[in-house]
Amino acid sequence: MSEKIRFGVIGGSGVYQMEALQDVEEIQLETPFGPPSDRYVVGTLHGQRVAFLARHGRGHRISPSRLNQRANIYGFKLLGVEYLIGVSACGSLQEQYAPGHIVIPDQLFDRTTGRALSFFDDPTVGTDGLVVHISLAEPFCPFLNQICYEAARETGNPVHLGGNFVTIEGPRFSTKAESRVFRSWGMDIIGMTTTPEAQLAREAEMSYSVMAHVTDYDVWHETEEPVTVEAVVRTLLHNAEVAKQAVANAIRRLADAGPSPQANALQDAIITDRSLVPP
Ligand code: ADE
Repeated sequence: MSEKIRFGVIGGSGVYQMEALQDVEEIQLETPFGPPSDRYVVGTLHGQRVAFLARHGRGHRISPSRLNQRANIYGFKLLGVEYLIGVSACGSLQEQYAPGHIVIPDQLFDRTTGRALSFFDDPTVGTDGLVVHISLAEPFCPFLNQICYEAARETGNPVHLGGNFVTIEGPRFSTKAESRVFRSWGMDIIGMTTTPEAQLAREAEMSYSVMAHVTDYDVWHETEEPVTVEAVVRTLLHNAEVAKQAVANAIRRLADAGPSPQANALQDAIITDRSLVPP
């Protein structure tokens, strides 16, 4: 694969393909972590080569807990991706983030259990013995967040820059008690996939941001019905075109971007001192 593809898009619920891509080819990749969710669809958008992956596979076959997120991110890395935009559905935990709105979160809170959270120190793939502590103080790339915000605003859809995004394990939705606690912790939106996607992208030294599309008020709201799949899908179908337009605008705005600001994320993150490791 000679051609470097600098831009990646990982489409969530409702965004399984991007019709705007031209000169499309599909690329099947294998990674040391196993197979990604689907074939990467590579095409041209605003003169840029872009790789698209359906996060849950086309047809939505893979549940959040079973996603091979390491393989998904590794595949983008193999293709040369430096800037990765995630598109996700999310619930709202605050009145002002209404269904139909887009949120570009700036913080992430991990409530997942038992997912593979790192490429490193894993004996099953031979990275054991290499201990890496990346910084995740800013879990999303501030530069890419600003681009995504402006790109989403350009659609005319209501959009919020900043917000605390909690990732739950799923696949079930939250109980009312959980939802109330997340609200009391200051969480703004809730989803099932952004952990570990964001931290794996950081380990892969890519810029990563998520365009989170609010589909529901989760289960805390006094006058709104508790979230259902039907409500999520209805809002998503309504917003799918906006989601794709926002991504296309972001790619156009990224055309002249230099190397990713996260390109050296591993530089000060490796704690293992090879010179002290016995042979
Ligand atoms: N995705 C969309 N709505 C959600 C919710 N309420 N909780 C978790 N993930 C979601």
